[in-house]
Amino acid sequence: MTPSEKTLTAVPAADEAQEQQRFDELIAEDSRIEPTDWMPAAYRKTLTRQISQHAHSEIIGMQPEANWITRAPSLKRKAILMAKVQDEAGHGLYLYSAAETLGTPRDELVQQLLDGTAKYSSIFNYPARTWADIGAIGWLVDGAAICNQVPLCRASYAPYGRAMVRICKEESFHQRQGWEILYELSHGTPEQKQMAQEAINRFYGPALQMFGPPDDDSPNSKQSMAWNIKRFSNDELRQRFVDMIVPQAEALGLHFEDPDLKWNEERGHYDFGELDWSEFKAVIKGEGPCNVQRMQRRRQAHADGAWVREAAAAYAEKHHSADTSLIA
Ligand SMILES: [Fe+2]
Ligand SMILES: [Fe+2]
Repeated sequence: MTPSEKTLTAVPAADEAQEQQRFDELIAEDSRIEPTDWMPAAYRKTLTRQISQHAHSEIIGMQPEANWITRAPSLKRKAILMAKVQDEAGHGLYLYSAAETLGTPRDELVQQLLDGTAKYSSIFNYPARTWADIGAIGWLVDGAAICNQVPLCRASYAPYGRAMVRICKEESFHQRQGWEILYELSHGTPEQKQMAQEAINRFYGPALQMFGPPDDDSPNSKQSMAWNIKRFSNDELRQRFVDMIVPQAEALGLHFEDPDLKWNEERGHYDFGELDWSEFKAVIKGEGPCNVQRMQRRRQAHADGAWVREAAAAYAEKHHSADTSLIA
């Protein structure tokens, strides 16, 4: 626990039960918790972890796409991709700000990413091998992120919900740009269509795994749902995503290489095949194709940016002294 966390949670024991009751009432009536409200230590800890890991994912997620800015096939495509990658940086910043309101300073959260004690979404440990992969990332990865994140706009912790509203608006632009890249390719030469199909084949499984392990294997989900942080289970969100992307793939003239994928009249949903969870676990453990490269790049970028942080701190200090001398 950081010193600031201690201050925020320092409530005499007699009052604590009352505070807990008030918190439970707010959750029961689906109200929002603000940073100045009392909250249980476990709620604060869960949110700090979730929001900061979400921020880390946005920051690391810039890498596979930034790698394609100079190779995008036209000036227009470069400009669109650059705007998208900048959006992701912005998402990281909103989310670090939201996480900081829970009491842990940003430096500490960033350090957890750099020393490997914090995780980020495993999807970003896959490479973007071709231009079509940029389309597949936008359509499937940002698409899965939207399915996950739209319900988070109603998360009980208010700063998180507010950050998600803006993020989701930008994510829907990201998804459309990805779909449009694939549409152009799938309506181009046979080689371009093939490239689009191969990109989808690569990203289908990992994108479905973005919703996390199956419900039976996701012990923390229940508590997050009880706290109104999470509104739907991993499997519910995954199903919603599959139901959304199958007709979109048909509109592209492409398909998913899943022999079990078919409409189930009785359930009113698409059935789909078992995912490779051993691969998912291996990538989380650091054995994905790009884990080492992503972290090396992030550490290098952090070291390269040291002078900017120093200059910003010196500037803030100078202005702070000027302000206090005016007051005196
Ligand atoms: Fe994002
Ligand atoms: Fe995005």
